[in-house]
Amino acid sequence: MADDPHALFESWLAEARLAEPNDPTAMALATADSQGCPSVRMVLMKGHDERGFVFYTNYDSRKGGEIAANPRAALLFHWKSLRRQVRIEGPVEPVSEAEADSYFATRSRDSQLGAWASDQSRPLESRSAFEARYEEVRSRFEGGEVPRPPRWGGWRVGPERIEFWNDRAHRLHERRLFTRSGQGWSEGLLYP
Ligand SMILES: Cc1cc2nc3c(=O)[nH]c(=O)nc-3n(C[C@H](O)[C@H](O)[C@H](O)COP(=O)(O)O)c2cc1C
Repeated sequence: MADDPHALFESWLAEARLAEPNDPTAMALATADSQGCPSVRMVLMKGHDERGFVFYTNYDSRKGGEIAANPRAALLFHWKSLRRQVRIEGPVEPVSEAEADSYFATRSRDSQLGAWASDQSRPLESRSAFEARYEEVRSRFEGGEVPRPPRWGGWRVGPERIEFWNDRAHRLHERRLFTRSGQGWSEGLLYP
């Protein structure tokens, strides 16, 4: 019987929260367009449970277009201080509107306004144009709550593979691969 990779992930993340000087939840998110051309960028993991790993972004960003065309992704955590990495692969689904609303409500007001002001991944004529847009949304929502922008929300990567890589002496690193099988997981080792 395989261990539960979600529980193992949580225990590694708890150690990373203690060891990493900043952003222990930062992960590389790789997507590919309809031609299979890959792209990768960092995002922050904002939720994790048996269903998967959640991040938030602008649905009209470059990653948004790629996920719409090809709804699969790969994630990578690299905890340098612990010399560990976790690789995750699987299909991507949007989180519910209610889940996105409740996360958006926890963000600072500045971040909420930033989500309205930024046409993420679109060409920006000048920094001052962005600042002017920020000022415009700031005064638009003055005195009230900032609602979630309609094209801003979350995605959940539902893992089919999760690999835990642990540094070992003499480059004899340990790789434990969990592969989804039915409702459970099968586990094996890989050569480093
Ligand atoms: C540590 C770190 C965390 C980031 N977290 C997020 C995030 O949670 N959501 C997001 O949209 N962009 C985040 N970004 C910015 C992205 O890396 C990227 O610049 C942006 O999402 C646009 O990517 P795209 O053009 O491929 O869509 C983060 C960047 C760094 C360096």
